[in-house]
Amino acid sequence: MQSSENIQENNAQISIIIPTYNESQNIVQILKSIKDNLPKNFVTQTIIVDDNSPDGTGKIVEDYLKNVKKMADYTIEVIHRKAKKGLGSAILNGIQQAKGDTIVIMDSDFSHPPQIIPKLIESIKKYQYDIAVASRYINGGKIQGWSFKRKIISKFATLIAKKGLGIDTKDPMSGFFAFKRNIIKGLNFDAIGYKFLLEILVKTKGVNIKEVPYTFQDREFGSSKLGMKTILDYYKSVWKLYRYGKPVEKQEKRSSVKFLSKAARFYTVGASGFIVNYMISLLFAGGISDMWYLHANVIGIIASITTNFILNKAWTFGDRNFRIKKTVSQYGKFAMFSSLGALVQLGMVFTLVDNAEISYPLALILAVITAAFGNFVLNKKFTFKE
Ligand code: GDD
Repeated sequence: MQSSENIQENNAQISIIIPTYNESQNIVQILKSIKDNLPKNFVTQTIIVDDNSPDGTGKIVEDYLKNVKKMADYTIEVIHRKAKKGLGSAILNGIQQAKGDTIVIMDSDFSHPPQIIPKLIESIKKYQYDIAVASRYINGGKIQGWSFKRKIISKFATLIAKKGLGIDTKDPMSGFFAFKRNIIKGLNFDAIGYKFLLEILVKTKGVNIKEVPYTFQDREFGSSKLGMKTILDYYKSVWKLYRYGKPVEKQEKRSSVKFLSKAARFYTVGASGFIVNYMISLLFAGGISDMWYLHANVIGIIASITTNFILNKAWTFGDRNFRIKKTVSQYGKFAMFSSLGALVQLGMVFTLVDNAEISYPLALILAVITAAFGNFVLNKKFTFKE
C-alpha cells in the first residue's frame, strides 16, 4: 500500500529513501530536519518505507502528512509493507518507487545528519560524480557513541569488503549515500542484509565516486536492528558479490565432481584436514609412540597442510595448469597462507572475546569464516593461479 501528499507528481529530481522499523520516536523529527536541509533549486521527494512497525511509525507519518503544509517542490510519500522484510529490501522497494534521477539513502534515527544531504547532492549534480558516499573513514569523518565491539565489527566487515571484493571506497559499509539512478539501470539486486551500497559498488565498478566526511552519531532513541542474522547475511552477501561477474567454471573433466564449485571443494578439503590433523596427532601421542602431545600436534598440523595441499592441487584446482615443477613453491605458499589463516583466526578470536566482549561461539564463527574465506581467496589468486 502506498500513500502520498503530492503536489507535483512525477517530476521529482531527487528522491530521498528512508527505511523505517519502529522509529516512532525519530520519524517526525527527522522529516522536519530533512525539510530544513533540502538541497536548493530541486524538486525533491522523500519516500518512507515502513515495514508495518509495531510501534505505529507508519501511522505517525500518515498523521504528520495530514497536517503538514503542502509545498510546490517537495513531497513525502509512504510505502507501507506488510511485514519486516529487511533494510536492503526496503531500500530496493524505495528505489523502485522513486522518481528522481538522483537517489539518496539514509537512516531515520539521526545517525545520518540531514545537513550532509546538500553536500551529497552537490557532488552529484554539480561535480558530476556517479556516487557520493557519506564517509566515516576519511579525514574529517568519525563515529560517535559506538561501543568498542560495534567499532570492531564494522572495521572487520569493511576490511573483508575492501580486500575480498577489491573495493577502494574507504567506507563501503556506509548506509548514507547518493547516486545517479542511471548507473544501476538494468542491474538486478539481491539486497541481502544491510549493505546495499556494497552491492552497488561491486555491480557498478568503474564509476566515479566521491566520499564526503561526516560524523556518524549513534541514535538517541529506539534501538539498532542489527543482530546475528544481519552479520550472517553480510557474509552471505559478500560471498554472492565475490561470485558476481565471474565466468562459470570451466567444464570439469571428472563428471563425479561437476556439482561442486571450487569454493565448496576447497572447504570440503579443509574439513578433511581437520580429521587428518586429529587422527595423526592422536596416533603420535599415545597410538604408535608416546610423543609429547604438542610435538604430536605439530606433526598433525604438517600432515593436514600436506594432504590439503595435495587434494587442492589435484582436485579443487585440478583444471588449472598442473605443472609438477611448480609444486615446491606452491606448497610453500599454501603452508604460508594456512599459517597466516591460523594467526588471523587466533588474533580475531582473542580480540573479539577479550576486547569486544563477543561470546566465544560467535567470535569463533566470525573468525573461522574470515580465515577460511581469506585462505580460499589468497590460494586461488596466488598459489594455484591460472
Ligand atoms: N523498512 C525497514 N525494514 N527498515 C529497517 C529494517 C527493516 O527490516 N531494519 C532496519 N530498518 C531501518 C531502521 O529503522 C533505520 O532507519 C535504518 O533502517 C537503520 O537501521 P538500524 O538498525 O538503526 O541500523 P544501525 O544503526 O544498527 O546500522 C547503521 O550502521 C550501518 C553501518 O555500519 C545503519 O546506518 C546502516 O544503514 C549502516 O549500514
